[in-house]
Amino acid sequence: MKDRSVAGGGRLEGEVRVPGDKSVSHRALILGALAEGETAVEGLSSGADVASTRTCLEALGVEISGAAPTLRVRGRGLGGLRAPAKDLDAGNSGTTMRLLAGVVAGHGFASRFVGDESLTRRPMKRVAEPLRAMGATIGLTEGGTAPLTVSGGALKGIEYALPMASAQVKSAVLLAGLHASGRTTVVEPAATRDHTERMLAAFGVPVSARGLAVSVEGGSRLTATKVLIPGDPSSAAFWVVAATLAPGSELAVRGVGANPTRTGYLNVLARMGADIHREPVRGEGGESVEDLIVSCSELIGVNVAADEVPGLIDEVPILALAAALASGESRFNGLGELRHKESDRLMGIAALLTSFGASARVENDDLLITGVKTLKPAEVDSLGDHRLAMTGYIAGVLASGESGVLGASCAEISYPTFYDDFNARRCGA
Ligand code: S3P
Repeated sequence: MKDRSVAGGGRLEGEVRVPGDKSVSHRALILGALAEGETAVEGLSSGADVASTRTCLEALGVEISGAAPTLRVRGRGLGGLRAPAKDLDAGNSGTTMRLLAGVVAGHGFASRFVGDESLTRRPMKRVAEPLRAMGATIGLTEGGTAPLTVSGGALKGIEYALPMASAQVKSAVLLAGLHASGRTTVVEPAATRDHTERMLAAFGVPVSARGLAVSVEGGSRLTATKVLIPGDPSSAAFWVVAATLAPGSELAVRGVGANPTRTGYLNVLARMGADIHREPVRGEGGESVEDLIVSCSELIGVNVAADEVPGLIDEVPILALAAALASGESRFNGLGELRHKESDRLMGIAALLTSFGASARVENDDLLITGVKTLKPAEVDSLGDHRLAMTGYIAGVLASGESGVLGASCAEISYPTFYDDFNARRCGA
């Protein structure tokens, strides 16, 4: 992984578009593969995680032509995937491994998923348990991690109360449920991103949702469609916070997904006093879209409640940076799930902010931050975590002097052009 140095100073100006939503992109490829007919995808994420899903699907016999952002998926129909001749390599991508585990659980062949060092540390029991309850045979290490083996077929529908708020596990169970007999219902402890449900509906599958319960019927066929993927709000968040904090900035982030299960970070920034104008634009395929017009403003500390966290889970690193430069105290409650991301992101955020001279500490699963007026330059480690890499880079831009991010190139997981795009919009540095 390459390192990067960054000189502090400057403002952001002009307009930007971010890569296609990573979560929606995975689902477009997967549902396209399960559908009857050819699915045309526009706006697919150019990140390495989505490329991992493509590679795994190709190993499962799916023909995909073109390259991000525009490609076509030739569907194999429900239950039509082929036994893979080799391991399915999910790389760094938890979404790839967990969602596809649900899919292959519905097929009568054996598969083995592997991943990189970070993914091999992440918990997979959460997906193994419901899939076993549906009738699949799942193998994991003693520690409950990958390599993950699946021998599937002949599943039965279940009603499953999710022990944690995880859209990946919810989606894995629903995708297995399509291949099961009878009805499969997932009950969430808190609402998580609902892209799978929305996209299933766009592919013609009836999905019933009642409060926090969502159900699908086994055997529901998917019909290929055109999928237009909006810009990723999790990538937009880096720009929104950077433009809010860099003095003199005026920036428009165009064509960003506005699904309310993803925009919790904008609510938090609004409470902090950020100047963000949200302008709805036309979306398609069940996902709403907006432009975000951001002007620099002073921020105040904020309290983020535990029940807000699933709606901003991937934005906590950059929101924490905003809190580090806000006046007063901020508290983020109930961040335990961050320990299971691409790194122990909770400890990673606290270490990163502390290196830049902010006061940040972890108390149980909560993060407490006391804002400072200015950041001092620092050398920070991305821990191989794309969201920490980009947060560290922006902290470097906001600090006085020369900073560095070790392992900065892992930004390619979700945002390969991030550093170039950022410097192209940066003036007066
Ligand atoms: C995702 C769900 C979230 C999120 C991840 C993408 C998805 O993970 O953090 O970046 O696409 O379903 P969890 O389901 O583990 O919370």
